[in-house]
Amino acid sequence: MCGIVGYVGDDAAPKILVEGLNRLAYRGYDSAGHALMNGSGIKIFKDVGSPEHIGQVVMKEKVMANSGISHTRWATHGGVTPSNSHPHLSNCGRIALVHNGVIENFVTLRNRLQQTGVTFHSETDTEVLCNLIASYYEDFRSEGHEDAFLHSVFAALREVKGSYGIAVMCGDQPGRIITARLGSSLVLGIGNGENMVASDAAAFCGRTNNIVYLDDGQVACLTGKDFEIFNLDNERVAAEICEVQSEHQEYERGDFPHFMLKEIFEQPEALRNSMRGRFSSDNSTTKFGGLNLEAKDLRRINRILFMGCGTAWHACLLAKYIIEKLARIPVDVEYASELRYRNAPIPDNTLVFVISQSGETADTLEALREMKRKGFETLAITNVVGSTIAHEAGGGIYQHVGPEIGVASTKAFSSQVLLTTMVGVFLGRLRDLSMSEGMRLVKGMQELPDKIVQVLQKASELEALAKKYAEYNDFLFLGRQMMFPLALEGALKLKEISYIHAEGYPAAEMKHGPLALVSPTCPSLFIAPEDEMIDKVASNIQEVKARGGPVIVITTEGSPLCDQEGIDVIAIPQTCESLMPILASIPLQLFSYYAAVARGCNVDRPRNLAKSVTVE
Ligand code: G6P
Repeated sequence: MCGIVGYVGDDAAPKILVEGLNRLAYRGYDSAGHALMNGSGIKIFKDVGSPEHIGQVVMKEKVMANSGISHTRWATHGGVTPSNSHPHLSNCGRIALVHNGVIENFVTLRNRLQQTGVTFHSETDTEVLCNLIASYYEDFRSEGHEDAFLHSVFAALREVKGSYGIAVMCGDQPGRIITARLGSSLVLGIGNGENMVASDAAAFCGRTNNIVYLDDGQVACLTGKDFEIFNLDNERVAAEICEVQSEHQEYERGDFPHFMLKEIFEQPEALRNSMRGRFSSDNSTTKFGGLNLEAKDLRRINRILFMGCGTAWHACLLAKYIIEKLARIPVDVEYASELRYRNAPIPDNTLVFVISQSGETADTLEALREMKRKGFETLAITNVVGSTIAHEAGGGIYQHVGPEIGVASTKAFSSQVLLTTMVGVFLGRLRDLSMSEGMRLVKGMQELPDKIVQVLQKASELEALAKKYAEYNDFLFLGRQMMFPLALEGALKLKEISYIHAEGYPAAEMKHGPLALVSPTCPSLFIAPEDEMIDKVASNIQEVKARGGPVIVITTEGSPLCDQEGIDVIAIPQTCESLMPILASIPLQLFSYYAAVARGCNVDRPRNLAKSVTVE
């Protein structure tokens, strides 16, 4: 969603800010802007459209500036217009602000400010916060306060309700940025003679690997030489500088036309990284460093609750099938956005697991907090090191798949499913899963990357298939047992990037509704590996064919479905049943990718969607 970058230091700020903001474009945007300061006031550039577009305007102007704040907006309050874009400038022209989040009491605050003569030029809550800071600044300045700027930020933030990540500049104090967070992630990049702030560390790539994760309720003052962190009561807070390893090429597309395709092809290596160091020395079970729970605690758990949103929710649903099978522990799955407002009776000894690639999804974070508040043990599977969810969960497992830039999740999903399977093996081996079964599964996992390579070799086959079907406007995705959550994920992938309407269903449920949709204009894609359900699914395929519905089948090499006439078949290698969802997810990703390309869609930045949804 919205992204913030701020820079203060010795170097030319415009280029650094433009590059940083371009790196945050993957989060989703509808407009972008920069506020630049060079000692003679604040200059604002903003417009609807991409950060690249506004970046070109800024670079053409050749503004001399050593500090600035920048923003990509994803509209919440107010339409997508230039005046609603950030940065916002206060009426007095002294305060510039960029903001992520939602100020819930902005109407009350706006009315109050209007009564004091402030006029508003946008419909945003952000402009209200900007003028609130400015009004305190004017008061404190006239009272001769020793640090009117910092104290005006404290005073305004004490008044607002809602969530924010902000970066503020004051025209009277060139070379200083104040930044603060409550519920919206911000990290500081600590450099040599320069300091930065951003919504995520991607913006610092190539400038610094030294990061400070700002916590909720903290305010940081940045100058080129120094940084200080306070709480809202003006008390100094100690900061821990962490070194993060991020490679430049992780944020570049390289020779791939889209990040999504790059990330699909990264999966063999990404999954190796998720598994690295996580098998026991005898390869009979898995191990995790960060669970913060002893075997005896985990044996006491008699239920698990998985929560997430979007694709991560599909990984949760797969976790149910896999963990119940391997560890025989009942698993419940909830949309985080639903659970947080429901008075759900959750039994004692339930372990709460959240899955979130970004570690910042607002609904998942709030549901996690609610469960922590109730006293449950919580764990998280996240990809982004230092993210809020990783920070707040009682323990967790990092995915280590590198940054995922494409909005449609691919490598993060397969890694989440792999890690929940590894959790299933771990918990199973603390219970009844035999050593030989554990060894069989571990071997299956170790062989998985090479099998993914074999599936990726079918990319051109999938491209041809996707081209054949790209003009259809409706699709059904069908599967049974573990292939049902995958059907949901396949349908989500197709609709989010190609805008083809698609529904995922358990194949046996067809007869209770979706069969009515089957016609020559509505193809059905079946995920049907050769397992104990294959004969049942084969019957469902006949039901669709009998009604003139085009059929695509993803099955395993040598399965009876490979020889069926009148259907399109993609055959993938066999693997352990619990690992099949991972392997079968790859052709679904490639199919939707190529369908979206054939339809001329912006694959990495689908309309209306954001990579990381940091508001409700
Ligand atoms: C957004 C993204 C999805 C993602 C979901 C949850 O909707 O577009 O790809 O699955 O958020 O994100 P998370 O970071 O919590 O996994």
